[in-house]
Amino acid sequence: MTRVLVTGGSGFIGSHVVDRLLAARDQPRIYDLRPSPWHPDVDAVLGDLSELERLSEAMAGCEAVIHLAAAADVNEVLADPVEAERRNARGTLQVLEAARRTGVSRVVYASTIWTYSDTPAECHEESLPLHPPAHLYTATKLAGELYCHSYGQLYGLEHTILRFGIPYGPRARPAAVVPAFTARALAGEPLTIAGDGLQSRRFVYVEDLADGVVRALAPVAANRTYNLVGSEDTTVKEIALAVRDAVGEVEIVHGPGRTGDFAGAPVSGARAAQELGWTATTTFAEGVRRYVDWHRAAVPVRSEPPRVIGALARRAALSLAGALLTAVVIVGLATLAPIDSDMNIYGTFVGALLLMLPLVLAGGFEWDGPAGRQISAGLTTAAGACLAIALLPWPDELHHLRHGHATLLVLLALSAGVAARLTTLPRALPAWLNE
Ligand SMILES: NC(=O)c1ccc[n+]([C@@H]2O[C@H](COP(=O)([O-])OP(=O)(O)OC[C@H]3O[C@@H](n4cnc5c(N)ncnc54)[C@H](O)[C@@H]3O)[C@@H](O)[C@H]2O)c1
Repeated sequence: MTRVLVTGGSGFIGSHVVDRLLAARDQPRIYDLRPSPWHPDVDAVLGDLSELERLSEAMAGCEAVIHLAAAADVNEVLADPVEAERRNARGTLQVLEAARRTGVSRVVYASTIWTYSDTPAECHEESLPLHPPAHLYTATKLAGELYCHSYGQLYGLEHTILRFGIPYGPRARPAAVVPAFTARALAGEPLTIAGDGLQSRRFVYVEDLADGVVRALAPVAANRTYNLVGSEDTTVKEIALAVRDAVGEVEIVHGPGRTGDFAGAPVSGARAAQELGWTATTTFAEGVRRYVDWHRAAVPVRSEPPRVIGALARRAALSLAGALLTAVVIVGLATLAPIDSDMNIYGTFVGALLLMLPLVLAGGFEWDGPAGRQISAGLTTAAGACLAIALLPWPDELHHLRHGHATLLVLLALSAGVAARLTTLPRALPAWLNE
């Protein structure tokens, strides 16, 4: 049983690595900024990579560190390069330093096959001398690789560098290509492919990848670098077709090509196969099918667009019934215990009805999203209009509307105003009733 610290263990790949360690009866401990949504019961330390003391404490008693925490989304890196450098490059330095201080024997470092992106080759192997990468994300990941080498040379700290293919599978970021295509296909929207869609990528199913990561803890992997990639190149068009096969009929359309799109080149997984006994066994079609199954189970199906008119009509009918009942009760009470002997029963009934209707309608139901906002805006306008008619001097056409009804209009304005507020509160009446 090995105690292993998994930095970034709450993330996509990290969560699968934790699964794999648990399956191997090892003892994972998560180090992450956020608690794990997938493993609430696993030992975890919340902290930033920049907190050296905390990181060192988290490593106490661990034989190895699997270092995955990073700014992994290239868009995040583009948006804030300084923060990305702090997390990816310096963050890795902190991990290595904490490992040196605490006597951890191995740091397994998550790098990427994008380190090959600017190195021309027929097939990319680990021994290739790398050209400096153009992308900042890759530069920060490569910096981490260099720090691993330096710590090995200077302090004898063992490392294993893993260059991941593009992972996909359950728990993936929604913006990644497979989740994005799946979400669109399930929503019945067409899948858009940039250009001819023949640009290819080396994907790897995340559970296979996690298996490779855990195998890299083996003694043979000390101070070695491995590509962990799937065994097939997959074009964007094939991704769309695989999603269509898994989800059902969906339209695939071609949009304009993107300039500078990387055509991709083969990446060899031979070394990992030979030394770690690891190959990715899940085919792309099977992986996509598993992802779609997971997505269907985990992500609530986006509900049909609310049929606002029908919903409004049903709610209005129910509210009218509620308001009618309330008005009858008010009139009944006023008749039994008269406050005003000149009370006009029909006027009181209509007044009570008009007062109650917007309130019951707004407060009694949950008005979600845009519908709630529209109804709220409508009610606010109605409230303002009633007040204006009741209180302002108007030319003759409107004067007769106000005549004798000013009190009613003010009450109506009040009722509509309160109702407008209620529609923006979640389930105001039911929540109050349940308190
Ligand atoms: N996802 C990919 O396409 C891909 C491809 C190749 C390599 N990688 C590498 O694999 C690793 C994991 O990627 P992922 O896709 O699981 O990412 P992810 O974003 O799902 O998970 C990263 C985790 O690291 C944590 N983290 C980030 N900054 C931190 C900090 N300063 N201190 C502590 N925790 C921090 C985050 O909270 C998150 O839980 C990364 O190192 C990434 O560079 C990812």
